[in-house]
Amino acid sequence: MKVASIVGARPNFIKLSPVSRELRKKMDEIIIHTGQHYDYEMNKIFFDELGIPTPDFHLEVGSGFHGYQTGEMLKRIEKILIKEKPDVVLVFGDTNTTLAGAIAAAKLSLKVAHVEAGLRSFDRKMPEEVNRILVDHCSSLLFCPTETAELNLKKEGIIENVYLTGDVMVDAQRTCMIIAQDRSKIMDELSLMPKSYYLATVHRASNTDDPDNLRSIALALSKIGNVIFPCHPRAEKRLKELELWDILNKNTRVIKPVGYLDMLILEKNALKIITDSGGVQKEAYLLGVPCITLREETEWIETVQDGWNVLVGANEEMITRMARVFVPPGRYKNVFGLGDASQKIVKLIERII
Ligand code: UD1
Ligand code: UDP
Repeated sequence: MKVASIVGARPNFIKLSPVSRELRKKMDEIIIHTGQHYDYEMNKIFFDELGIPTPDFHLEVGSGFHGYQTGEMLKRIEKILIKEKPDVVLVFGDTNTTLAGAIAAAKLSLKVAHVEAGLRSFDRKMPEEVNRILVDHCSSLLFCPTETAELNLKKEGIIENVYLTGDVMVDAQRTCMIIAQDRSKIMDELSLMPKSYYLATVHRASNTDDPDNLRSIALALSKIGNVIFPCHPRAEKRLKELELWDILNKNTRVIKPVGYLDMLILEKNALKIITDSGGVQKEAYLLGVPCITLREETEWIETVQDGWNVLVGANEEMITRMARVFVPPGRYKNVFGLGDASQKIVKLIERII
């Protein structure tokens, strides 16, 4: 059996890593990289550190408006799929790469398998929400990380070939944490003591592209102080345009985006995490680190229900207050699986396709 995995952005690479390892034990895999992310710290570092095989095709699409970017990907992916004729096309998460891969395959009547199906924030202004809905509705196999995701699909009438597998990011985190503890030098490089700093990430369009929101987040982070901020290029660009870069740098340690191994170590040792990332909210939960989320809603609702994550939007006062006072309860539920999601996914592909 031949599988085409389509990736292009940072979270796609992390999700691909455990799945690809399992796939290659039993099937032929080709990897198609759209080029959505291209800086070394947003792209190649993940292939190098996580041992993901070099992509067979690199489409070099790069950045652009949604329509342009998705359209360019669609055209270029289609050409490859026609030539390669895979039995199934695997897409991951909710990026424009995920959408382009799913549409290109579905239009060629190829089977689409969606890893991380059924997630919903119920905010259609969020580009990722549009991607999720469209991808789920043209997928033939839907692998859900949580029961909530399965239920979301049911409410939209998607009930066939839906499987609760657990989350592949649990698989990635478990494997990589062992390696990270051995290899990462980030705590020494930044002279950090465990539980002595906040870790922040910001890249969501609703925050970076809204000047008021970005300003209030930047002011909150600089008030909190003692923040390590691996800065996404999108946020860097906007912070500089709004002349917030210098203000933020005075009281916050803004660094380049880090590789996954360093990120896991920074997350594990943080006092609290402040983020608008989907993946980082979940990782905080899995590592038992309190999370303050810079959004009004989340698709990882279990982390909030369980008391480990608090939604504060871009409200400066709420962010600074929660950084001081937020203490989750001691309990912890395992809702994202046992670290065997990739194995389950590969077995299901083998059985069904
Ligand atoms: C994308 C995903 C988002 C995901 C995020 C992970 C979509 C719609 N969004 O958002 O779901 O959470 O990736 O990080 O697919 N840029 C660089 N270098 C790079 C990549 C991007 O400078 O290597 C800059 C460019 O100015 C670009 C901007 O970042 O225009 C945004 O990049 P893009 O991939 O369009 O969206 P992200 O915000 O990264
Ligand atoms: N991540 C990383 N380095 C960073 C920031 C994030 O390795 O500097 C990892 C993070 O640990 C998580 C993934 O990237 O596994 C999340 O991706 P991102 O926040 O870019 O996207 P989202 O999950 O919001 O789609």
